[in-house]
Amino acid sequence: MQPIDRRTALTLGGLGLLGTAVGGGGLFWQRSPSTLDALTGAALQEPEVLRSRGGLLDVRLESASGSHEVAGRRATTLGYNGGLPGPTLRIRPGDTLRIQLVNRLEQPTNLHVHGLHVSPEGNGDNVFVVVEPGDSFSYEYRLRGDHPPGVYWYHPHHHGMVADQLFGGLYGAIIVEDTNAVPVTRERVMVVSDTSLDASGQILTPSTMEQVMGREGSLVLVNGQAAPVLEARPGERERWRVLNACSARYLSLRLDGQVVQLLGRDSGRLAESLKVEDVLLAPGNRADLIVTAGRRRSVLRAEPFDRGGMMGGMMGGGSALRSGGPVDLATFEVRGSPQAELAPLPRQITPRDLRASEVSRRRVLTFQMGMAGGMTGGGSSGGMSFTIDGNTFDAARVDQKVAVGAIEEWTIRNVGPMDHPFHLHVWPMQLIADNGAPVETPMWLDVVNVPARGEVTLRIAFDDFGGRTVYHCHILDHEDRGMMGVVLAE
Ligand code: C2O
Ligand code: CU
Ligand code: CU
Repeated sequence: MQPIDRRTALTLGGLGLLGTAVGGGGLFWQRSPSTLDALTGAALQEPEVLRSRGGLLDVRLESASGSHEVAGRRATTLGYNGGLPGPTLRIRPGDTLRIQLVNRLEQPTNLHVHGLHVSPEGNGDNVFVVVEPGDSFSYEYRLRGDHPPGVYWYHPHHHGMVADQLFGGLYGAIIVEDTNAVPVTRERVMVVSDTSLDASGQILTPSTMEQVMGREGSLVLVNGQAAPVLEARPGERERWRVLNACSARYLSLRLDGQVVQLLGRDSGRLAESLKVEDVLLAPGNRADLIVTAGRRRSVLRAEPFDRGGMMGGMMGGGSALRSGGPVDLATFEVRGSPQAELAPLPRQITPRDLRASEVSRRRVLTFQMGMAGGMTGGGSSGGMSFTIDGNTFDAARVDQKVAVGAIEEWTIRNVGPMDHPFHLHVWPMQLIADNGAPVETPMWLDVVNVPARGEVTLRIAFDDFGGRTVYHCHILDHEDRGMMGVVLAE
């Protein structure tokens, strides 16, 4: 077996070709039986579903602290409408989504619709809006008729409090329906999140050092449940909409023993579904998967993922960060009489391929993590600064000015020892090159991992909308510490 370096793994992981390279599946399978016996989870439950009607979905989301069931026990967490995750919003291209956000927290919040291609201005996807405790705000998002179908999500975006509010339980899925139905036996929405609870069921605040690294909770949940069970009959075809809502944890997912096909990631579709062994979701990423049940049960597992560490030996031996464990997320239980095959999966409409397009401007953005020298990072940064092009976030500054309609090429360079998942609001990004190596299968993402001491090249069509919005590291502790910039399209 050829050794595979992490960088290569990142590229392949996205396409799911990694499987055979790491342990060949069999290794993991052998370990499974003992783990399986330990899993006694309840059936997977899904959040309430709210669907658009006649082109409109009008919902009220109340963010509040309360007593919620988390991993089978009562806990005091945050939640939207008393649930964790919040309701799943199902809309169609061309729809209007109205959300009245009511803030019952004791601190400011707001709302962001991650991945949706909608206006960032006014009461659109405007992250500069602040909703004070006791106040409410009415957002309205208008989707174009050609909005890409896929898995999106909503979460708070009030700078400085984003990691705490997500870790506390504020997140939910948004599904933009397909225009051509994909034939499946059933569909599941699986929101993966992590958090930590103390003995009395209160959310634990991670140490400053854990925050600097990017907090990872000790509980990894699917729809708020620990190790739930999914049941299917042999031959059934399921569609899994998987969302990584963790504040910092990467999910390198495997489901050995079943046939898994990738339909798309984030807003991007593949023309033809791709058989995968492994799917890597950086924080904020989503996968749209087809799972065809085989003949036996298996475990949906997050394999350890090395996302770099701190400053070499500085932290005492160079603490490497390994997301996960492995962590068993869920059991896929296959039993009953075999089911007949369904119609083949249709071809999908892919976004415009920008590889052959003329680029009007090239930019390089440099992500850096260093010792906080001045006052930029504030007192809570644990002595570290998180910058893009040497700056921490300033809502009053415009860092990149782009022309509406322009196609630009952005190289995101990471000069630090830790990976940073790069996220841009409003406009999807096409991954062109990963550490200089051209990407063969066109891939459109809204979160792209930038490996430690590496770089990625992206192309972005700044189509349809003008206005001011942000790009940032989706390790939310880093975002909160200033690893965010402002882009203005006009
Ligand atoms: Cu999912 Cu700016 O965030
Ligand atoms: Cu976003
Ligand atoms: Cu980061």
